[in-house]
Amino acid sequence: MSEENVILVLADGSKVTLPVLGGSVGPKVIDVRKLYAQSGMFTFDPGFMSTASCKSAITYIDGDQGELLYRGYPIEQLAEKCSYLDVCYLLLNGELPDTTSSSQFKNLVSHHTMVNEQMLFFLRGFRRDAHPMAVLTGLVGAMSAFYHDSIDINNAEHRHVSAIRLIAKMPTLVALAYKYGVGQPFMYPKNHLSHAGNFLYMMFGTPCEDYIVNPVFEKALDRIFTLHADHEQNASTSTVRLCGSSGTNPFAAIAAGVACLWGPAHGGANEACLNMLNDICQKGGVSYIPTFINAIKENKDVKLMGFGHRVYKNYDPRARLMQQTCYEVLAQLDSQSDPLFQVAQALEKIALEDEYFIKRKLYPNVDFYSGIVLRALGIPTKLFTGIFALSRTVGWIAQLNEMISDEDYKIGRPRQLFVGSPRRDMDELQIPENAVH
Ligand code: SDX
Repeated sequence: MSEENVILVLADGSKVTLPVLGGSVGPKVIDVRKLYAQSGMFTFDPGFMSTASCKSAITYIDGDQGELLYRGYPIEQLAEKCSYLDVCYLLLNGELPDTTSSSQFKNLVSHHTMVNEQMLFFLRGFRRDAHPMAVLTGLVGAMSAFYHDSIDINNAEHRHVSAIRLIAKMPTLVALAYKYGVGQPFMYPKNHLSHAGNFLYMMFGTPCEDYIVNPVFEKALDRIFTLHADHEQNASTSTVRLCGSSGTNPFAAIAAGVACLWGPAHGGANEACLNMLNDICQKGGVSYIPTFINAIKENKDVKLMGFGHRVYKNYDPRARLMQQTCYEVLAQLDSQSDPLFQVAQALEKIALEDEYFIKRKLYPNVDFYSGIVLRALGIPTKLFTGIFALSRTVGWIAQLNEMISDEDYKIGRPRQLFVGSPRRDMDELQIPENAVH
């Protein structure tokens, strides 16, 4: 019996005792696993507003404080002091790497960046104007057709090999999708470059001339990867967990995460946010902001993209770091007066002072400034969510591995509140005359 319990008094006066479980930090949970057996009732929580789907030791968010911890370390410290690959090592293994482990991990990843050449033929089956996320969803799923030697999710070695392959090959796949869309030759990865530098090379290098990685862009992109690496049980991570709980292979589970991330309410918000800022700029810029804010208040379907969050009811710490990255990159480009950045900052200021947003605790989230930085780096808008997917792959893998390694895990299978027709028999008169008998 748990030290703390809640007692449910049912309509017939009977009582159900449910244990309360506490974690290391954050809200406690009521363990309802025996609720149905003891009460014949389910809990009801569409959107999982008050439901913990699992135990996890990977990432913790304090939404009220605006705090984000990866394995206990604040995102601000990791973004400043660690490379993305060191953060990948931390998320996967629970501890930061020492110097030897760090260089071994980087060496392992950089020697798995090429994809099976046959995948290029699969890629060429897409239309050139296909959305990169459609291409990426296909390519990641297709990895299970090319890497048969690491698809048993219940085999720890297979999980390790597929993790390295996914972290290493996602930048290559995103760059391939981009090059295919613009009709330029693919650029094979260069193992001597950093993770972010190699991605920039594969994106913007051409066979015609040497490509020099801009160190400011390289550092900014590496930080962007870190800021997007993991985020508790968000929609795409929950998708990966649910998909993986059937025992499917890691590539298929990650492909499901890519597909879910694409949605504008989730990872697609960075693309939607930049389109929103462009639209405001075209309609008058800062002077149009009050009209736009009114449109949001009058129409629930109009959202301030890049604002609001299910968990953060304070400023998303990633948004602050992204804004800082904006300053650094735009300064490098000597374009601090970037109109989109000006509009974004004015929009943020106005929204944060407006009762509508204050009352609903709506603050900038990770997607509000990320599009401006990515655009300044030369990344096309349609590829923004692909960068998010590239970054989040390690989080999805860490969460999937954590689930599979938990001996209590079961296939996920939610129940429902049925509101449809109770049993009824077909009336002879209703059976179509031409029905096959
Ligand atoms: C990501 O979960 C994660 O951790 C996700 C993520 C990650 O790293 O994995 O952080 C990445 O997805 C960030 C969120 C990116 N999405 C956007 O920026 C899209 C715009 N935001 C909204 O769609 C919304 O804020 C959500 C989806 C992010 C959160 O929505 P919730 O928690 O379901 O809140 P809600 O829709 O119930 O909103 C509460 C109220 C509503 O008004 P009322 O009905 O109370 O009058 O706030 C309003 C909403 O209409 N509202 C907004 C708004 N977000 C919520 N109004 C205007 N603009 C917005 N952005």
